[in-house]
Amino acid sequence: MDEIRVGIIGFGFMGKTHTYGYKTIPLYYSNLPFKVRLVMVCDAIKEAAQYAKDTLDFDFATDNADDIFCRDDIDVVNVCTPNIYHKDAVLKALNAGKNVYCDKPLATSFVETKEITGVLDQYGCITQMALQYRFFPATMRAKKLIDEGRIGKIMSFRACYLHSGSVDPNKAIGWKQDKKFGGGGVLFDLGSHVLDIMYYLLGEYASVFAKTKVIYPQRPDKSGNIVDIEADDLAFMVVNMKNGGTGTIEASKVATGTNDELRFEIHGDKGSVRFNLMDPNWLEYYDNTITEVPLGGDKGFKKIECVQRFEKPGGSFPSSKFSIGWIRSHVHSLYSFLDCVYNKKQASPSFRDGAYIQYVMEKAYQSDSESRWIEL
Ligand SMILES: NC(=O)c1ccc[n+]([C@@H]2O[C@H](COP(=O)([O-])OP(=O)(O)OC[C@H]3O[C@@H](n4cnc5c(N)ncnc54)[C@H](O)[C@@H]3O)[C@@H](O)[C@H]2O)c1
Repeated sequence: MDEIRVGIIGFGFMGKTHTYGYKTIPLYYSNLPFKVRLVMVCDAIKEAAQYAKDTLDFDFATDNADDIFCRDDIDVVNVCTPNIYHKDAVLKALNAGKNVYCDKPLATSFVETKEITGVLDQYGCITQMALQYRFFPATMRAKKLIDEGRIGKIMSFRACYLHSGSVDPNKAIGWKQDKKFGGGGVLFDLGSHVLDIMYYLLGEYASVFAKTKVIYPQRPDKSGNIVDIEADDLAFMVVNMKNGGTGTIEASKVATGTNDELRFEIHGDKGSVRFNLMDPNWLEYYDNTITEVPLGGDKGFKKIECVQRFEKPGGSFPSSKFSIGWIRSHVHSLYSFLDCVYNKKQASPSFRDGAYIQYVMEKAYQSDSESRWIEL
């Protein structure tokens, strides 16, 4: 059986998430034509890499990503470092002939993403973004309903991605609140996801008007020093889509009371769909073509049971009736990538999609600083 041999760069939250994916894919998907081998893990903190090697069966650990690029026995590189390091890691991996799975956002500016997309054809490697919300049965079902015309002409929508991790002004900032490492604020961190899911469902953006806000201009860093904050905690956008729909998109880390709440509601002339990541087993669908009758008839929002109803070979373990969770969408995203690597076909969402989202975010920041609509 063929082996797909993996190197992971960055063993923090996402490094662990993707390792979980690689280790569990053979359980979730039956009769796979390939095996996965975890060859090398890299983290700037050597002990973190060593811990991963010792406990999760990587063959080697390092604190220098060049050790991954130069190995002949690595086919796939996962980039899950802070955003500022993505571009160099991706370019070096491509240059070494590796297939690359990169976490969002692809880089820290549109210029950087162009450096990446500019060389993709030259190397011909398989590449994919970790934009995993496209990989829930419920979001895939929403896309199918929209593409089949069941929602009709899209008129309006609202979407948001809400966290509450920055509500406390005394909590020490991490790298995601530091523009030096993130490149942007919540617009990059959560906005990239919600902008991508609306792009996946509705197509390209036509124009954007954005406002961002830093709620507390100073916060403590990890050493307790008070530092100036430039990374936005809140981002609001009004957007027009090329398909004619108009909507609002919000990303926030100061949404008190939320945990991990990515929501969308899309209204067309034939129906509506709505989804909430905190309730991911269901897609709610309203069929506006049902005739109104006394006592209501069958009119009304219906909860479609999407649970784990993946297309084969997904959905075989656990059986498709069991409830789904956040990490399962990551596993399906990663499986989709490995399937493309094995079958040598281009994966989706591609790095070009990642670059497009970076372009939209850059235009949103431009709109914010110039206080005007920006055409895309
Ligand atoms: N798709 C998602 O659901 C999702 C969720 C969270 C984060 N992310 C993205 O994943 C990436 C990583 O975020 P995270 O939450 O895992 O961050 P994290 O801080 O938890 O982990 C980052 C790790 O990278 C290591 N590191 C830093 N610089 C390095 C370098 N030059 N070489 C090797 N290792 C280095 C750090 O020591 C740390 O262990 C970011 O791009 C982030 O935007 C995606």
